[in-house]
Amino acid sequence: MLVYLKIYRYNPEAGRNVPSFDTYNIDAHPTDRVLDLLEHVKGNIDGTLSFRRSCAHGVCGSDAMRINGRNMLACKVLVKDVGTEITVEPILGLPVLKDMIVDMNPFFNSYKAVMPYLVNDDVPADGKERLQSPEQRERFDDTTKCIMCAACTTSCPVFWADDQYVGPAAIVNAHRFIFDSRDQAGAQRLQILSDHGGAFRCRTAFNCTEACPREIHVTQAIAEVKNAIIGGIEH
Ligand code: SF4
Ligand code: F3S
Ligand code: FES
Repeated sequence: MLVYLKIYRYNPEAGRNVPSFDTYNIDAHPTDRVLDLLEHVKGNIDGTLSFRRSCAHGVCGSDAMRINGRNMLACKVLVKDVGTEITVEPILGLPVLKDMIVDMNPFFNSYKAVMPYLVNDDVPADGKERLQSPEQRERFDDTTKCIMCAACTTSCPVFWADDQYVGPAAIVNAHRFIFDSRDQAGAQRLQILSDHGGAFRCRTAFNCTEACPREIHVTQAIAEVKNAIIGGIEH
């Protein structure tokens, strides 16, 4: 099948300091992924095209981009699922550096701010592992699936309008530890997320949940964090 591919281009270092689109007609298989089309352009037509990718199997989270207006991982989207006219653009709300490559620093700074790691200085009496019941583990299972692709945060209208908002990905990763019965810093994280740019900036738009390639219940996780800020944590 013939695919009409339209790709966002921006590269101030090479004189392309006004965003524009390059277009291509590409012979593709319905089961090709959008990432395959981008690789084809980069490998055979224009080596200056820039985008991030690593695993090519939906695991590393590096190739989130807007495909026909919606945030997706290019390696998980098949041509037959998006049609024969495909527009590829960078994710929104982060500064574009070149083509599909955005500056992820603001995103990762918000992630770091919520202490996304286990805090527990106590060694169990028997010196072995910290035990947890299956029910306690289940409590935060959904949010362990995050691959930090930023598809959620960069689809959030609140994040687009307010760069102080930590965004859904940071809250998801806070959730993963707040509700972990082995962790001791939940109250600190809730304090951080009760601040101006925290969980209550969320207006329940649900774009984040729709965008998440891991099908994490992002909006629900945010609601649980909001409830914990008000009512405390139950493990
Ligand atoms: Fe990506 Fe989903 Fe994690 Fe957001 S919650 S960063 S969309 S994997
Ligand atoms: Fe934004 Fe998701 Fe809340 S899109 S407003 S973080 S529900
Ligand atoms: Fe790793 Fe797509 S390249 S998630």
